[in-house]
Amino acid sequence: MKFENIVTRVGRMPLPGALTAETYDYRAEPLDALKRGEIRIETIYASIDAGARGMLDPSANYPMLLRPGNRVYTSGVVGQVVESLDPAFSPGDFVRALSVTRQKYLTVDPKRTLGVRKVDPADGPLHIHIGALGMTGFTAWLGMFTIGLPKPGETVLVSAAAGAVGSVAGQIAKAIGARVVGVAGGVKKCDAVVSRFGLDACVDYKADGLSAAIDATCPAGIDVYFENVGGVVQKLVMERMNMFGRMIMCGQVSQYNGSCSGGGGAGGPNLMNVINRRLNLRGFISSDHMDMFPAFERSVLSLVRSGKLLPCATVTEGFDQLHDAVNSLSQGRNFGQQVHQMADDPLNA
Ligand SMILES: NC(=O)c1ccc[n+]([C@@H]2O[C@H](COP(=O)([O-])OP(=O)(O)OC[C@H]3O[C@@H](n4cnc5c(N)ncnc54)[C@H](OP(=O)(O)O)[C@@H]3O)[C@@H](O)[C@H]2O)c1
Repeated sequence: MKFENIVTRVGRMPLPGALTAETYDYRAEPLDALKRGEIRIETIYASIDAGARGMLDPSANYPMLLRPGNRVYTSGVVGQVVESLDPAFSPGDFVRALSVTRQKYLTVDPKRTLGVRKVDPADGPLHIHIGALGMTGFTAWLGMFTIGLPKPGETVLVSAAAGAVGSVAGQIAKAIGARVVGVAGGVKKCDAVVSRFGLDACVDYKADGLSAAIDATCPAGIDVYFENVGGVVQKLVMERMNMFGRMIMCGQVSQYNGSCSGGGGAGGPNLMNVINRRLNLRGFISSDHMDMFPAFERSVLSLVRSGKLLPCATVTEGFDQLHDAVNSLSQGRNFGQQVHQMADDPLNA
């Protein structure tokens, strides 16, 4: 066989807390011959998403739940075509695919698979297409433009502001002209959120005095909250929302690892605030809105090209180290989009 495939499947369902090496299996599996219209991609980078932990925790109520033996999902991969029976693609082309499974060689029909397209290396490092220009960037853009709708001068607060979705959401709100405050874990991350992503301030939720720090950085209250984490941060923010504020309910990462770390299970928000303050609180799942993906790509690509949006990624290696890469997100070790390098990147050799 010309190509030896390795497929990542769920091994053992994890206990609450960090994942272990037994969480995933990496199995050599045979590849079928290509059918007409299909292409085979060698995966170079795969996205690591916070939801990967939620998908393994039945108590997290995450939209997708995986079981032992299931293939492992990733929000995007970028790689190089190694075989093609689609005249629009040739071996050597760099391509991106969205919402696929994690394997060494991915076989797809570009006409039937989400977001398969050639990528232009001139737009930045290959992994930008599964970060700021992939599903995470799309999630940030969608939440901000369909739910948050910040106006210039309004105060926007973004949690997990140094992460994949949060770093793009904060920079988009800045580009709109809002006053943007981030929330992140640790002084180093908070400094970087301000110095690299250009946010107006960033609150360290791991330090003492979180409530006073939000008051100090949001003296005029909060008009738009981009919610990624849940728990104590959500509770404190909801108490400071302005009348007719908008809460973009994107994720609840503090509740994804079976132990409700970060206060996910402790003292939830008082939902009377939603009524008294006439809040618009709306959840969304980005994959429901793929018809808007082309508009997102045009908009965010132009922000990237004009230097108004700085993409950022943490790249880790080791095909069989997926558990550690996922732990990196629940432990806050990533800065920007976490991507897993699965093969050599010829553009970054
Ligand atoms: N609705 C949708 O369609 C959709 C799509 C994609 C992603 N999402 C959601 O978007 C959010 C961000 O996902 P992502 O993939 O971009 O991950 P990410 O933000 O790159 O990584 C997760 C970050 O969350 C922070 N964190 C971890 N545990 C925490 C806790 N207990 N309390 C507070 N913060 C904590 C960590 O940063 P610190 O160091 O700052 O703690 C970590 O870097 C997740 O909630 C995810 O489910 C939603």
